[in-house]
Amino acid sequence: MLANELREKYLSFFKLKDHVIIQSASLIPENDPSVLFTTAGMHPLVPFLLGEKHPAGKRITSCQKCIRTGDIADVGDLMHGTFFEMLGNWSLGDYFKKESIALSYEFLTSSNWLDIDINRISITVFAGDADAPRDETSANLWKKLGIPENRIYYYPKKDNWWGPPGETGPCGPDTEIFFDAGLPECSSECRPGCSCGKYFEIWNNVFMEYKKTSTGKYEPLLQKNVDTGMGVERTIAMLQGKRSIYDTELFLPVIGKISELSNKSYSDYIKPMRIVADHLKAATFIMGDPLGVAPSNLDQGYVLRRLIRISVRQARNLNLCHDNLISISRTIAGIYGDVYPELMNNWNFIEKNLTEESIQFELTLEKGLKEFEKIISNPESICDGILSGQLVFKLHDTFGFPPELTTELAAEKGIKTDIEGYREAFRKHQEISRSGSDIRFKGGLADCEENTIKLHTVTHLLHKALRIVLGNHVMQKGSNITPQRLRFDFSHPDKLTDDQIRKVEEIINKQIERNMDIEISEMTVEEAKNKGAIGLFEGKYGEKVKVYKIGDFSIEICGGPHVMNTGKLGKFKIIKEESSSKGVRRIKAILE
Ligand code: ALA
Repeated sequence: MLANELREKYLSFFKLKDHVIIQSASLIPENDPSVLFTTAGMHPLVPFLLGEKHPAGKRITSCQKCIRTGDIADVGDLMHGTFFEMLGNWSLGDYFKKESIALSYEFLTSSNWLDIDINRISITVFAGDADAPRDETSANLWKKLGIPENRIYYYPKKDNWWGPPGETGPCGPDTEIFFDAGLPECSSECRPGCSCGKYFEIWNNVFMEYKKTSTGKYEPLLQKNVDTGMGVERTIAMLQGKRSIYDTELFLPVIGKISELSNKSYSDYIKPMRIVADHLKAATFIMGDPLGVAPSNLDQGYVLRRLIRISVRQARNLNLCHDNLISISRTIAGIYGDVYPELMNNWNFIEKNLTEESIQFELTLEKGLKEFEKIISNPESICDGILSGQLVFKLHDTFGFPPELTTELAAEKGIKTDIEGYREAFRKHQEISRSGSDIRFKGGLADCEENTIKLHTVTHLLHKALRIVLGNHVMQKGSNITPQRLRFDFSHPDKLTDDQIRKVEEIINKQIERNMDIEISEMTVEEAKNKGAIGLFEGKYGEKVKVYKIGDFSIEICGGPHVMNTGKLGKFKIIKEESSSKGVRRIKAILE
């Protein structure tokens, strides 16, 4: 059975059972700041699980686009994908365990529907703990339907409890349905949940009768709900007798394209080809979403950036370049175009952003890989076979290497990475640049908004351009940046002429067009001065400061953050020039 048929069958089965079909919601949750992506079909239904009335009634069904970034590291194995589709049926305070289990059983085993042999089905239920009782009700219901006791397993919360997807919200014990692929047990411990490939987890029925509060308590919900999820990719793999989601029609044409473009065979490059196929699929869906985002250093944009960068690096090993990535993405959009027309409608946006991001990273990757080699060949970088978190962070901060990428590169050399240490270094960096920016840019950079960061980088260009046009007496006296505009105060006695303003703009726009990389290094204040850096020299003697260098044009002491390349800044325009105080002028400017 193909994916198209499974979607169609599932939705029509539940329609027959009085459910209303709703469209997939956006991958970007609209009113939920606690998660970056829609991770399950229940996301758009959260208010209704909590008791609000849904306009379509109490029985709902859908096929929902989902992204799970927690699984990124597992991508390339048999069953994990970053993007996946989840079929689901919901009872919003209507039916509960008995009907839910009966509906699942009928859809799976009836000859009119999936016609799966009941002897190949195993079940898991919640074992019970201090928060909720052992789920004997579900176990008994399954027994009555013919599942023998020895194929019903009781698991603790970590396996048989679902939600909430964020910190708080609806959740509950679940019963999971596994299909036995017919392989021998991999060990005496092999049971549903084992990753050897014997057991496919195909459906999860969650009995959402609790709400997790911000204090970590589980309170009863106003109504008892059912939330279910069936993974399209896994289920068709099972129905087609395939061992992996990558062997189905949702991936094979993509892998075929990668193989054709790289002139390499899939069997020799299974993992890299799966990673490129998976990551580009997720990236294509994120950019092609009706609320689609572009790569950035923030939130969804940052996840997207990581996905593209890891693809670029894997693609490089396959001798593929950014043009090839576009063809692969196009193949993906083609596979899903009928079900998710937004991919074709937003194709120009996908193509533009994928091209820009992959070209930009291709340029940095070379340098970063050289630095990586240098780091890795220095025995001091490695302790007990582990690369320090500080160095993983350095590669991230300077070359934009996502930590997964460094981990992958290190693993190829038999070296591990200290990801906890990386997180720690990242947190510290954020604190430092936040506190630095709080002082230097009151109310400014703490939000780290993409536009704010761009305007921050252009402030460095402005500082230098003013010194070229007006003279080296120009010093920064203050700066304030919002996502909309920059404000820059500097020492200069006279009002700027129109001609001077035009010259400053011209210089900056010329520098932006040079697509210059921004490099960051750490040195003492004295070393920075010797290198000609401008900026606030207020550090103590010998104290290390961060220095940002924009190509050969500007070098400045600064806490960051900055964009990685000037190419994406846009067009610089001064919108106002006025006096700030005696001997100090003020410029307000924007990026168009
Ligand atoms: N929300 C449940 C899951 O994602 C059904 O497994």
